[in-house]
Amino acid sequence: MSRLFRFGVSLEKDLLNKFDQLIKGKNYTNRSEALRDLIREDLVKKQWQKNGEIAGAITLIYDHHRRELINKLTDIQHDFQKTIISTQHIHLDHNNCLEIIAVKGSPQDAQELTNTLKSIKGVKHGTLSMSSTGRDID
Ligand code: NI
Repeated sequence: MSRLFRFGVSLEKDLLNKFDQLIKGKNYTNRSEALRDLIREDLVKKQWQKNGEIAGAITLIYDHHRRELINKLTDIQHDFQKTIISTQHIHLDHNNCLEIIAVKGSPQDAQELTNTLKSIKGVKHGTLSMSSTGRDID
């Protein structure tokens, strides 16, 4: 980690109270760590807006008994080899599967892949969680 610098922050009492409530709810041990995370979060968003590289995870819940669906999922994943780093398949119960697809690349590609997978009949739920690759953040 790079050197730490201290600086003063002035806030209205009301806003500070709300901030303290917020960080308490998120289990931060101090205000500095909460503030650092807020700044990092904003930097990550800015990176996406610049069309930078993201890392993330797509999670899918789908019906295990639809065989044609599993073929389609595999075909699509072969078309997105550039974006997919790894895939993990979990048999949730007798009927349901959970697939976690780790992705790295442009936010547009990750979103397109997610939308394509989610649109397959039999996919019950799908989410994309985007994060930074960590390169521009300390
Ligand atoms: Ni399964």
